[in-house]
Amino acid sequence: MSTHTTIPTSTPPPTDDGGFITVPKGLAKVVVTDTALGDVRGDEGFFHYRQYSAVELAEQVGFEQAWHLFERGHLPDDDELSAFTVEVGRLRVMPPELADLLPAICSSTNDSLQVLRTALSAWGGITGLRPLYDCAEEEKAAAALAAVAVTPTILAAAHRLHRGLEPVPADPTLGHAADYLRMVTGRLPSARDARAVEQYLVATMDHGFNASTFTARVIASTGADLAACLVGAIGSFSGPKHGGAPSRALEALDEIGTLDRADVWVRERIGSGERIMGFGHAVYRTRDPRSEMLKAIARRWDDPLVDLAVGVEDAIETALAELKPGRELHANVEFYAGVVMKLAGLDPSMFTPTFCVARVVGWTANVLEQSRDPKIIRPAARYVGPPPPQPVPTGTRTRQAS
Ligand SMILES: CC(C)(COP(=O)(O)OP(=O)(O)OC[C@H]1O[C@@H](n2cnc3c(N)ncnc32)[C@H](O)[C@@H]1OP(=O)(O)O)[C@@H](O)C(=O)NCCC(=O)NCCS
Repeated sequence: MSTHTTIPTSTPPPTDDGGFITVPKGLAKVVVTDTALGDVRGDEGFFHYRQYSAVELAEQVGFEQAWHLFERGHLPDDDELSAFTVEVGRLRVMPPELADLLPAICSSTNDSLQVLRTALSAWGGITGLRPLYDCAEEEKAAAALAAVAVTPTILAAAHRLHRGLEPVPADPTLGHAADYLRMVTGRLPSARDARAVEQYLVATMDHGFNASTFTARVIASTGADLAACLVGAIGSFSGPKHGGAPSRALEALDEIGTLDRADVWVRERIGSGERIMGFGHAVYRTRDPRSEMLKAIARRWDDPLVDLAVGVEDAIETALAELKPGRELHANVEFYAGVVMKLAGLDPSMFTPTFCVARVVGWTANVLEQSRDPKIIRPAARYVGPPPPQPVPTGTRTRQAS
C-alpha cells in the first residue's frame, strides 16, 4: 500500500514562494520521479525490489538472480540464469589496461573505495563509454552489466595491492559473491561464508531513493556517461551518514569490549553530541528489516562477537529510547553488516567497499531508468545573502599578470 500523495498540478503547492515550492529539509518524503525498481516503506519496516520483498529475495535467491531481476525486469528461469551467469562471469575479468593502471591508482590512496572511484572513471575511458544521451538502450544495458561485474574485481585487487599481494584474477565459473570473497582473501570461501555475504549483498542492492541513488540519477539526467554517474554515487555513498558506517559500528563494538560497558559508552557519546554509528535511519521509523535479517545470519556463527553485538544492540536501543525519546532509533543495516562481514573473513577496510559491490546493481538500474526521462533534474535554492544587485566596490579592477 503506497503512502505517497501526488499533488495535482492544478492544486496550489504546500508553500508557494513566487512560483517556487519550498520542500522539507533533506527532501524528506518529497517524491521526485516514478520508479519501477523498488521502494522502502519506512513505517512498516518493509522494502522491495520490483514486486518482491527484498528480504524474501535475500533469503531465497542468489546474487545473479536478483541482479537479473533489476537488469532484465524479471527473475530468470533456469536457462536465463545459466546464460546470465556465464555472461557476467566473463565480464568480471578486469580489462588488462585497467589491471596495468591499478597499482598506480592504489599508490595514491589506501582507501579501496577511493580506488574504485578513480578506477571506474578510468574504466569508462578504457571501455569507450559514451554519454547516455547518445546511447541506445542495448548499449546502456551492456555498460551497466559490465560495470557491476567488474566492481568486485577492482575492489579485491585494490585490497591485495594495498597489502603488497598479487591480485587474484576472476574465476568466471564461480558465483559473483563467492568469487568476490576468493579474489579478496585468495582462497575459496566456505559455503557458509559465501552464502552469508551473498545474502548481505542481495539485501543491500537497492534501497529506495537514498542519497547515492539520487546523486546517480541527477548525473544521469544530464545525459553524462555511466561512469560519471557511478563515480558521483560512490562519492555520495562514502559519507559516514550513508554507506561509510559499518566499520565504525564494528569499531564501537571493539571499543565497548564487554557488555557491562555499553550503557556508559552510549551515554557518554550522546552526552558529547555524537551519533551512534549503525543506529537510526532517515526513512525507517521501526526496525530496519535488513538489520533483523543480518542478525539472524550472524547467529549462524557460534562466536562471542555475535553475543556481544546482540547485547550491545539492546543496551544502545534502551539508552537511545531514554535519551532521544520519540525518535525510534534502532539498529540499521550497518550494525550487523560489519559483524557478518568480519565473521565471513572480510577486513573492516572492505566493509563499505563490499556494500558497493551490491549497491552498484541498484545504481546502474536507476541510472538506466533515469536516462529514459528527457527532463534534466534542476531544483532551486533560496538566496539568503546580502540583497543584490549592489555596486561592485570602486577600486576593484581586473588584475592581469604582467
Ligand atoms: C542515518 C541518519 C543519517 C538519519 O538521519 P536523519 O534522518 O537526518 O535523522 P535526524 O537528524 O532527523 O535525527 C533525529 C534525531 O535523532 C538523533 N539521531 C539520529 N540518529 C542518531 C544516532 N545514530 N545516534 C544518536 N542520535 C541519533 C538526531 O540527533 C536527532 O536528535 P535531535 O532531534 O535531538 O537533534 C542518522 O540516523 C545517523 O547519522 N545515523 C548514524 C550513521 C549511520 O548509521 N548511517 C547508516 C545509515 S543506514
